[in-house]
Amino acid sequence: MKKFKLPSLIIVILWSAVFSADLSAQAKLKETFKDYFLIGAALNRAQIFEKDARGAKIVREQFNTISPENILKWAEVHPQPERYNFEAADRYVAFGEKNGMFLVGHTLVWHNQTPQWVFEDKKGNPVSREELLKRLRAHINTVVGRYKGKIKGWDVVNEALNDDGSWRQTPWLKIIGEDYIAKAFAYAHEADPSAELYYNDYSLENEPKRRGAIALIKKLQAAGIPIKAVGLQGHNNLTFPTVEQQEATLREFAALGIKIAITELDVSVLPDPEGFSGAEVSLSFEMKERLNPYKNGLPDEMQKKLADRYAELFAVYLKYHQDIERITFWNVTDKESWLNNFPVRGRTNHPLLFDRQGKPKPAFNAVVESLENFRQRSRN
Ligand code: GLA
Repeated sequence: MKKFKLPSLIIVILWSAVFSADLSAQAKLKETFKDYFLIGAALNRAQIFEKDARGAKIVREQFNTISPENILKWAEVHPQPERYNFEAADRYVAFGEKNGMFLVGHTLVWHNQTPQWVFEDKKGNPVSREELLKRLRAHINTVVGRYKGKIKGWDVVNEALNDDGSWRQTPWLKIIGEDYIAKAFAYAHEADPSAELYYNDYSLENEPKRRGAIALIKKLQAAGIPIKAVGLQGHNNLTFPTVEQQEATLREFAALGIKIAITELDVSVLPDPEGFSGAEVSLSFEMKERLNPYKNGLPDEMQKKLADRYAELFAVYLKYHQDIERITFWNVTDKESWLNNFPVRGRTNHPLLFDRQGKPKPAFNAVVESLENFRQRSRN
């Protein structure tokens, strides 16, 4: 008997390792959803440079499309008038190409993370409409042109609307006027005629803002602007958007004859500070203990809530899968999620499918299972 002790111990260890491993961890999101939509994540610098080896591995295994969290925003890629900084963007494109991924560019025109010099002359006075258009065209030509045929889709304009659906008073609008959006799309099309062009925004599930976006898209279409899809950022929480809001949003945009991409998906599990909703990045609220209840981990009942919420959202996405071309999560694991610092700095949020150790959460299983459930429903 004695001499069997060691081998049987090894067998027991191997056996339990196999069975305690989360079996669904072997599922790959990109495989699971391959007949329905592309599945992606936004990469930070450490993932792009593969310094975060664990994160990069998850990306390679799980996703077939990527977006750059920050490195293609104007301030990063074009920090000074005569200086473009393409090092990280080149790496991003190389990473995506090496792994056969659909590459997204984010973003060409935004009011945030855009240096002040863009809008000013050397004396600090606002530039003229002509000068700003010239700068915009040169920027788009240089950035889009460099990755022509490689970056397949661009968020041309990000967040041009207010919550009530009116146009946000940005320097772009104030200096150029309402045609700045059409111009940006035209310049992007000129720089890479084969690239898909998108309008991207948050909280479009709210009716007033959605009305504004629909009017904007119709206007672009009437002017012959090639807009391929609307990007719904999808910065959600446990209650927003409701299933009804999500469905109405998908239905109404699809009715415009464009595709839909869910571009920045996450589900915050933390309480919102009073007076906050949406994803207005300029907002910041003071830290209070009650706003940070899960700093030591997400309790089981909350894991379940998050999983159910993802299941609910994916059930809707699947129902409209013919209209949705892509679903991209904003970040890879909870550890680097922007929601740890927004709208309150220094919290511990748990909004994604992979936890701080890079392990799939119950929400991951729920997303994988949502497909089987959808297929079953379709059969009945
Ligand atoms: C918005 C932008 C993103 C990003 C997030 C926060 O949604 O579109 O690029 O800045 O805010 O990370």
